[in-house]
Amino acid sequence: MPSLEQALEMQRPPIVRFGAGQVTTLAAWVAEAGIKRCFVVADRINAARLDVLGLPNPGVFGDVKPEPDLPNLEAVIVAAKAIEADAVVGFGGGSAMDLAKLVAVLVTSDKGLRDVSGPNRAPKRSVRLIQIPTTAGTGSEVGTRALITDPETMNKIATESVEMLADIAIIDPALTVSVPPMVTAATGVDAMAHCVEAFTSKRSHPIIDDYALRGIQLIGRYLKRAVEDGADLEARAGLALAAFYGGICLGPVNTTAGHALAYPLGTRHKLAHGIANALIFPHMLAANASAVPEKTALVGQALGFTCESRQAVFGGANAFCTGLGLDMGLHSYGIPRDDLPACAHEAHQIRRLLDFNPVDLTEADILDIYEAAY
Ligand SMILES: NC(=O)c1ccc[n+]([C@@H]2O[C@H](COP(=O)([O-])OP(=O)(O)OC[C@H]3O[C@@H](n4cnc5c(N)ncnc54)[C@H](O)[C@@H]3O)[C@@H](O)[C@H]2O)c1
Ligand SMILES: [Fe+2]
Repeated sequence: MPSLEQALEMQRPPIVRFGAGQVTTLAAWVAEAGIKRCFVVADRINAARLDVLGLPNPGVFGDVKPEPDLPNLEAVIVAAKAIEADAVVGFGGGSAMDLAKLVAVLVTSDKGLRDVSGPNRAPKRSVRLIQIPTTAGTGSEVGTRALITDPETMNKIATESVEMLADIAIIDPALTVSVPPMVTAATGVDAMAHCVEAFTSKRSHPIIDDYALRGIQLIGRYLKRAVEDGADLEARAGLALAAFYGGICLGPVNTTAGHALAYPLGTRHKLAHGIANALIFPHMLAANASAVPEKTALVGQALGFTCESRQAVFGGANAFCTGLGLDMGLHSYGIPRDDLPACAHEAHQIRRLLDFNPVDLTEADILDIYEAAY
């Protein structure tokens, strides 16, 4: 595992505002920045409450799809190009914020996603970017990455650039009070998975470990509370902070096998990203335990279970997820069993994540995990 001697660069928005009610400071920031017109990128639920942003006459694309694909990105770029805006606002979960990042760099360019995908290929941004998360999950508000599904290959295309880093992120936990219990559970598990996978990654780093472990502790303390009582603002704030910490983990360290195995379930079968993470989480934590025993024990402690054996790790992590009301059988989500080999083949090719998992997984190992999760 790397030590403090290992160099690390962290990139974060220059301004992060955190706290219930902070969204009301947006309009003043926009005015002070000299922004004339904002273009808001939102899903339908958030598009129906644009008034909370307090923006004068914003342009809006209000049809962000969950797990957005290429056609969804193309539609939002067409809408953005039709409006003279000098700032883009991502208002929603990771789906809206990821699209907002790409709109911000592509709106003044002739380029398409394929011209900019991968690391550091995005053109220079000439509009401002504001991110306002309304779920507590992805941490996309503080990151440089956007994930778009290619409908032909069903893969997630990752684009990453400092040009896609927000000028300001406003994390207002009060905006997440309306998230339904199962979406709260799923997005919370996603935030936890970012922290756990970065914490146990071969690329883990002591600086990021501090955020990761704190994020996992916050999930252990608050996720069940927020699922049971969505109006519990302390719990909502704890989760918003955990998601922020997870976002910090994603930048320099990123996720590993958990996300690699979750992706095909989301892209091929439209399974919500957080649910897919939850289904894989107990299996991966158990499979990795022998390679990172101390860190696995700390994860268990934070989430309320002991890790004396591989079975104990699996049982504890699985009980944590079922305790949130999640159905932990892959079969329950309408995924045909005979597609699991194709999922395993796809997951095994996600080398950008799998190469940093603490244990090496063959395609057959991955299929075994899917079968066990079924
Ligand atoms: N950029 C990154 O680093 C990063 C990291 C992880 C995931 N992602 C991506 O983020 C996407 C998932 O984001 P997500 O999990 O936040 O889900 P999401 O943005 O798709 O939202 C999930 C659902 O919750 C609804 N919703 C959002 N806010 C709500 C609110 N306040 N009240 C009620 N309903 C609300 C949305 O309309 C949607 O139906 C995926 O595409 C995933 O690949 C990106
Ligand atoms: Fe994620």
